[in-house]
This record gives sequence, C-alpha cells and structure tokens, in this order.
Amino acid sequence: MPFLRLYPPSFPLRAVAQHGFRLKSRRLLFFRSFAYLTIKDRIPQILTKVIDTLHRHKSEFFEKHGEKGLEAEKKAISLLSKLRNELQTDKPIIPLVEKFVDTDIWNQYLEYQQSLLNERDGKPRWFLSPWLFVECYMYRRIHEAVIQSPPIDDFDVFKESKDQSFFESQESIIALCTYLQELLSTLEDLDENQLKNEFLKLLQISLWGNKCDLSLSGGETSAQKNNIINSLEDLKPFILVDDMEHLWSLLSNCKKTREKTSMVRVDVVLDNSGFELVTDLVLVDFLLSSKLAAEIHFYGKTIPWFVSDTTIHDFKWLIAQMKQSNHKCMSKCGADWENYIRTGRWVYQDHIFWTLPHEYSAMSQVAPDLYAELQKANLILFKGDLNYRKLTGDRKWEFTIPFHQALNGFHPAPLCSVRTLKAEVQVGLQTGQGEQLAASEPGWLTSGKYGIFQFDGPC
Ligand code: F6P
Ligand code: MG
Repeated sequence: MPFLRLYPPSFPLRAVAQHGFRLKSRRLLFFRSFAYLTIKDRIPQILTKVIDTLHRHKSEFFEKHGEKGLEAEKKAISLLSKLRNELQTDKPIIPLVEKFVDTDIWNQYLEYQQSLLNERDGKPRWFLSPWLFVECYMYRRIHEAVIQSPPIDDFDVFKESKDQSFFESQESIIALCTYLQELLSTLEDLDENQLKNEFLKLLQISLWGNKCDLSLSGGETSAQKNNIINSLEDLKPFILVDDMEHLWSLLSNCKKTREKTSMVRVDVVLDNSGFELVTDLVLVDFLLSSKLAAEIHFYGKTIPWFVSDTTIHDFKWLIAQMKQSNHKCMSKCGADWENYIRTGRWVYQDHIFWTLPHEYSAMSQVAPDLYAELQKANLILFKGDLNYRKLTGDRKWEFTIPFHQALNGFHPAPLCSVRTLKAEVQVGLQTGQGEQLAASEPGWLTSGKYGIFQFDGPC
C-alpha cells in the first residue's frame, strides 16, 4: 500500500512527546494531555470491562458450545490480559498474527510507523506512537483476540453496553419519534421557511446525539435521559462552528435544480449506535420525506469499534427493536425505516477502511473504491469525534487553520463534520476563539459540551 504523501505542517497527537520534543514544559503538557490520559487510564478501563464481559458470558458460551466455549473464553481472556499488560508497560507494538481481510494492511501500516522513527527510538510503542494509530490498534487487537477464539469468534464484546444505552434512552427516543411523526403528518403544509427550521432542528438533534458515546465514558453507560428537543435553544451557544446554512442552501438548491433530472444522494458516515443512531435516522427520514434527498447511503463499521460504533448488526437490531415497540410512533419509525431499506432508498454499506488507522486524506490511495463511492454523494455527513480526528489527521493544528487545509486533499464531495468535541483537535475557529475558551474552560476540547457543523465544499 503506498504511503507516499507529504505530511501537513503539524504533528500527530501522541500520548507522550516523541524524541526531539522532550523539552521540559512540552513534556509536562503531554503528560496532562487527553491522549496521555486515554492511553494510561481510559483504554485499560475499557479492556478490563471487555474481560469482565467475557467472564460474565461464560455460562452462555458453555450452553451454546459446551467445553469448547469455555476454552475459547479462557483463550480470549488470556489474549486480552496480555494486551493490557503490553499497553500498561509500554511494550513495542507488535504485528497482527491472525489472517483477517485487513491484517496485511495493518502490518504494513505498522512498518510505516516504524519507518518514521530514528534508529535510537527503537520500535513504535504504545505511549510514543500517534494516538490515533494506537487507539485504533487497541480495538483491532480486541477483535484479534476474539477471532482467534472460535467458536465464540463472532461475539461482540460491546453489544451489551450498546443495547443497554439504547434501552436507557427509551423516553428520549419516544419523544423524538413522536416529534418526527407529527412533523411528517404536516409536511405538506410547511412553507420554505418552516421546512428550513425543522431541518435545522433535526440537524442539531443529530449533533447533540453525539454526546452519547461509550468510549469517552470508559464503556460506562452514556444514555440520553431527557427530551433533547426542548434543550436546543439553550445549547445553541455551544455550537462553535455553525455551517448549517451551507447545508440548507446545498440541499434546497439541489432540490430546486435537480428534482426532475437526477437523484439527490446524502451519505452518512455513522458513529455511535443507540440514541445517536436514532437521531441520525430521524434526520435522514426527514430528508427523504421532505424530498431534500432521494437516497441515503450509510457507512458503518465491520468490527466492534470504539465501544459504541454502529455495525450492521446494531443497525438492523435497532430498527427491529423500534418496529416491535409498543409505542405507536416508535414502531411506525421502525416500520418506515425497514421499508426504506427494502426499497433501496436507504443503503447500508461497510468497508474495511473505516476500521483502519489511516487518516481520510489517505483514502484515495488506500481505498480508492470507497473514495469513488463517496464521490457519488451530493453531501457527506461525518458523524462524531473519531471521524473528525481522521478528517483532520489528528494533528496539533492551530485553531485557525482552515478546515479545507486540514483535510489535506480529502474532498470526495461536499462534506460536513457533525461532531461534539471529545479530542484535542479543532480547526477553523475565529482568531482568539480557541484561546478564549481555553482560558475560561480548560476541558472545552474534550468534554463533549461543545459542538460543530463544519462544512467543506462549494458554497
Ligand atoms: O477515546 C478517544 C476518542 O477518540 C475521543 O476522541 C472520543 O471521546 C471517542 O473516542 C470517540 O468519540 P465518537 O464516538 O464521537 O467518535
Ligand atoms: Mg464512536
């Protein structure tokens, strides 16, 4: 796989500063960084929870597979304990050993990381490698431990927490579905302005839905407990970059100019399952129903990822749960959504690229088929924080660097990041905006309290 690219003039975020940056103050800064705390505390916590989950399913494995199930559970746990030890003692990052579709690409990427180091740096290690790489690698190693342990090799170690967060968000989901069904029943009577207002509302709901991810909370529950629709006005001041108008112009113009000639397609690169996924599906249901779009393509993850990310199983499971709900509006949503899938207006696709460690500027080289697919969209929505880190290369950018520049050549189609801030990377701010926030609120970049709609494309 070719990696010949010029790196933009900024450094990848790491848990600890690498050789050459070990100035005292800089080092201190890194030891307090979110990347450092993630690798030191949050990731071991997630690993411990995974081990515990496997333990708790022991009797289920036995019932299903007999002794072989128990042996498999033991094997997976021992591989995961080894992984936790490697991480906590900052051992070199080792190649993947099993033969899965992406194993070679991962190992090539590891070699590439090695090639970036000087001889005296030795091998890439957990605390000295780019944060994005290490974090992705950890989830890939969890998957490796599971697939090396047949017959439990299809067990999703995060499924239980994903489902739990869905059930704990029931009331908010019902409120949202009720809102959508009422809105859809009056759609014909709405004028352009009202339609726009509803669009903006549902966009914001989808943004704040991104607060509910389970990797930030170390795998602990992170459900949406109150009715988000009533909080939108209060949350507005926390939107740091607001390109919603661009999205509206783009889709409403598409609707006017293309209605008769071609289909408007919106692609959504999904993030978390549970409440966030419901907010995304509500938004795109509205896009179809209001004819702002004719076709929606979703992209999910092929393996369990960053605890709560959506896989095809989560996607199908959630829609089935909605359909069989006792609540009329919730079940109507589930039935409509199933119908959209059946009739091909909603298309779910996955691609191995989404669970590789590469930043998106490498997509056209590493996964040209996926890049070509995204080029067919009129608009691509990238949900969540991890997508933002991959869009911007997870670098220590100046806050005022334009988004277009940080994308580093990744422009398959007009795109928008819809993300709450949960990592120390942010671009495209006004002069002084980041500094002001940093002075008044030290955790602003990572708390999930702030959000952005950051657009790139022709206006
Ligand atoms: O663990 C770090 C991280 O990448 C954070 O940036 C973020 O908290 C989380 O994982 C993923 O967030 P999201 O689900 O929004 O992509
Ligand atoms: Mg996620």
